[in-house]
Amino acid sequence: MRAGIIDKPGDIPRFGEFPDPQAKEGCILIDVSLTGLGGWDILGAYRLGVQYPCVVRGEGIGYAEDGRRVYFGERSELPFGSWAERTIVPAAEVWDVPEGVDDKLALNMGIAATGVFVPLRKAAIQPDESVLILGATGVLGQIALQLARIMGAGRIVGAGRDVSALQRLMDRGLADAVVQLKGDVDGDANALRAAAAAHGTPLKSFRDDDAAALMDQAPREGFDMVLDLVCGNPMLSAIKATRWGGRVNTIGRGAGHIVELNMRDLLFRQIGMVGTGQRLPADRKAIWLELIALGLEHNITIDELDVPFEEITEAWKAQAAAPHAKITARIRP
Ligand SMILES: NC(=O)c1ccc[n+]([C@@H]2O[C@H](COP(=O)([O-])OP(=O)(O)OC[C@H]3O[C@@H](n4cnc5c(N)ncnc54)[C@H](OP(=O)(O)O)[C@@H]3O)[C@@H](O)[C@H]2O)c1
Repeated sequence: MRAGIIDKPGDIPRFGEFPDPQAKEGCILIDVSLTGLGGWDILGAYRLGVQYPCVVRGEGIGYAEDGRRVYFGERSELPFGSWAERTIVPAAEVWDVPEGVDDKLALNMGIAATGVFVPLRKAAIQPDESVLILGATGVLGQIALQLARIMGAGRIVGAGRDVSALQRLMDRGLADAVVQLKGDVDGDANALRAAAAAHGTPLKSFRDDDAAALMDQAPREGFDMVLDLVCGNPMLSAIKATRWGGRVNTIGRGAGHIVELNMRDLLFRQIGMVGTGQRLPADRKAIWLELIALGLEHNITIDELDVPFEEITEAWKAQAAAPHAKITARIRP
C-alpha cells in the first residue's frame, strides 16, 4: 500500500510503499479516507518504543470492513498509522462517526478538541472569568478560544508569535485581544508596572517583555485562567500575568518542557498538567461525541490546509513550522 513512512528516528517522512496490515484478533482493519497531522505527531514521532520503519501515526477517518464509517485516534497497531491507504486499530479505539457528521469535524473533535476541552473544563471557568490561551494561533488554540467562549468566559485573549496569524484570530472574532510573544523573558509584570509608574512611562514602552505585554491585555489583577499549549518561557511569562487564585493548565511543550520556575511567581496560584490520552477509550469516545455535538451547535471552525496524500514530506515540514491550520490529506472519497 502507499503510505507516509518514517525510516528511522529523526527522519522526515517520505512517501512510498509499505506492507499492508494483516488481520489480528481484537483489531479492526480500516481503509483510510481522511488523514491529518497535528503538533503531537511531530513531538511523538521519535519516542521510545516506536519500531522503524513505521507509518506516520496520526488519527483519521475511514471505513471498517463491514462498511461502517469510523474515526480512529493515534492508536494504530505499530508500525501502522493513519497516513496510509490502510491501517489496523484496536477495536475499542474505533468509533462510529454519527450520521451526517462531516469527516473533518469528526477528525478535529478527536485529539485536538479533546486535548483542550478536558483542561478547560477541569478549570471550571466561572461566568465572565478572563482566559488566556498561549499558542492560540495553532489548531488547538483556535478550538480552545471557541470552547472558552462556549463555557462562558468573559475576556478571552490569544497569544502567539506570528502577527498575521494573531490578526486572523481577531478578524474571525475568536479573541477579544491578542498578544505577540517575543520569546525569552525574565521580567516581572508587577515590577515593570511599578517601574513604569515610577518613571511616568506608559507600560506600552515595556512591550518587549512578554509578561508585561500579557498583563497589558489582562484584567487589572491578571488572568483568571491560562491554557498553555507551548510551555517554556511563554508559560513563565503567563504565570506572571495571572491574578492571585489564577489557574494554569499546561498541555503542550513546543517551546520546551524544562523551565526555570521561580516559585514566588506561583504564590496563591495553581499549575497543572491535564492530559487526555491516558483516559479509557470509552471516556474519550464520550468526550468526542460531546464535542461533535458542541461543534455542530456552535459551528466551531478551524482554518484548514488540504494537501495531496503524496506530499507527506512537505506536510510534515509545514506542521513543524506551525501552519496555523489543520493539515489533512484525502486518500479516498
Ligand atoms: N491531550 C493533550 O494533552 C494534547 C492533545 C493534543 C495536542 N497536545 C499538544 O498541544 C500543543 C498544541 O498543538 P497544535 O497541534 O496546535 O500545535 P502547533 O500547531 O505546533 O503549535 C501551536 C502554536 O504554538 C506556537 N508555538 C509553537 N512553537 C512555539 C515556540 N517554540 N514558542 C512559542 N510558541 C510556539 C505557534 O504559534 P505562533 O507561530 O503564532 O508562535 C503555534 O501556532 C502541542 O504541543 C501538542 O503536542 C496535547
